[in-house]
Amino acid sequence: MAKIILHFLLILAFCHTIIATENWKINLSAKINGPTADQVWPYIADFCNLYKILPNRISFCDQGTEGEPGLTRYSVTIAPSPTNPNATVVTDWVREELVEISVTEKYNVYEMRENTRGVTMMRASVQILPNGNKGCIYKWDIELAPIGGTTYQFFSDSLEVRLAVVVAMIQTCF
Ligand SMILES: *[C@@H]1O[C@H](CO)[C@@H](O)[C@H](O)[C@H]1NC(C)=O
Ligand SMILES: *[C@@H]1O[C@H](CO)[C@@H](O)[C@H](O)[C@H]1NC(C)=O
Repeated sequence: MAKIILHFLLILAFCHTIIATENWKINLSAKINGPTADQVWPYIADFCNLYKILPNRISFCDQGTEGEPGLTRYSVTIAPSPTNPNATVVTDWVREELVEISVTEKYNVYEMRENTRGVTMMRASVQILPNGNKGCIYKWDIELAPIGGTTYQFFSDSLEVRLAVVVAMIQTCF
């Protein structure tokens, strides 16, 4: 009997390990009203200049060739300084590498490298899809190794907030 219980406990421990290390997969999409996929794609294709879609980011590329896999961007998030109302502070930084890009299908795939967010592996894809004569759809697929100190839900919710910011930012350009 003890042997059976031990066996059962071992299986539980094994399954728990597998569950704990399974990647998080997040599929998000949002409608952009007005501009066509052709009009929006250049904002995504411009991998080095994140400020065009995220107002609180400053970025530049320091490796690779524009529009080609291997292109690597460095970006920092800025926020108002808690002590000086006239200043901003850098709250985090990430390096991301473009690993695939398709101009015809309007998508790119990028992976996170060194960062201050505790991300050990993250691969994401952005695709701009047509949406009839209504505008287009911003599709964002993310897969990452679970991050310590946060939950899937919290992380996924924070990406959804970011997507809303991106969509609002793009819409102001048209
Ligand atoms: C912020 O800028 C204003 C206007 O230039 C100035 O009067 C004020 O002293 C500045 N505050 C700080 C904390 O630097
Ligand atoms: C969801 O995202 C993953 C990557 O994280 C991707 O492989 C998969 O195709 C996406 N699923 C859909 C339905 O878009």
